[in-house]
Amino acid sequence: MSLARVKTVTSNVIAIDGPAGSGKSTVSPLVAEKVGLEHLDTGLMYRVIAYGCLDQQIETNDPAAIGRFADEIEFEAMGNGVVEYEGQSLTSELRTPEVSKLVSVVAANEDVRNEMVRRQRIWVQSRGGGVLDGRDIGTAVFPDAKLKIFLIADLDERAKRRSQDSAESVEAIAADIARRDKVDSERESMPLRKAPDAIEIDTTGLAIDEVVAEIVEKWSKLNV
Ligand code: DC
Repeated sequence: MSLARVKTVTSNVIAIDGPAGSGKSTVSPLVAEKVGLEHLDTGLMYRVIAYGCLDQQIETNDPAAIGRFADEIEFEAMGNGVVEYEGQSLTSELRTPEVSKLVSVVAANEDVRNEMVRRQRIWVQSRGGGVLDGRDIGTAVFPDAKLKIFLIADLDERAKRRSQDSAESVEAIAADIARRDKVDSERESMPLRKAPDAIEIDTTGLAIDEVVAEIVEKWSKLNV
């Protein structure tokens, strides 16, 4: 199905974009709970494709093979960081260094992106809205989202946050985050970018609750 044929429902969408470790995956489900919408972590969709490519031994130097795999793969994002795939509930398996390395290749593939955007729009359509976090939600997936947030934070702090659920050193994580920031923002298809009408929040030194409260307040003001 072409992207154009999937109607977008934007009145009830909160788009939360930003680089790795900026706080999106922590803040977004809490925002969703407070405003009474469901949450979709779109990064997990790209991660499960990278995981599946490794699991099914897809030729990762062949963009067409990755694109075909993305069209065919069946998975379900369950919330709370869990993805159901091939009868398994994946969580930490989606955040290994191998998956994190391959995911930027997968996410730069235009066929993969078109298919994931199509699925994200269907997800929203079937729920009448949602809180989606990613890199391109406010620019490409839902450019008319009612509220767009762009989270940023210092590289050091982002690496420290990610190190809490990883065995790798903070330095190695910082290097990987910097590499992914570069690939994500320089790729041709739907790059990581702040939408002109997005509200930027620097989460460095802010508590999770403070960031959540700020976003919920902005949403409430739009819905009076
Ligand atoms: O948020 P994350 O680190 O789990 O995202 C994994 C990768 O997926 C990241 O390198 C960028 C990519 N991604 C993307 O290109 N577009 C999205 N909407 C979400 C994630």
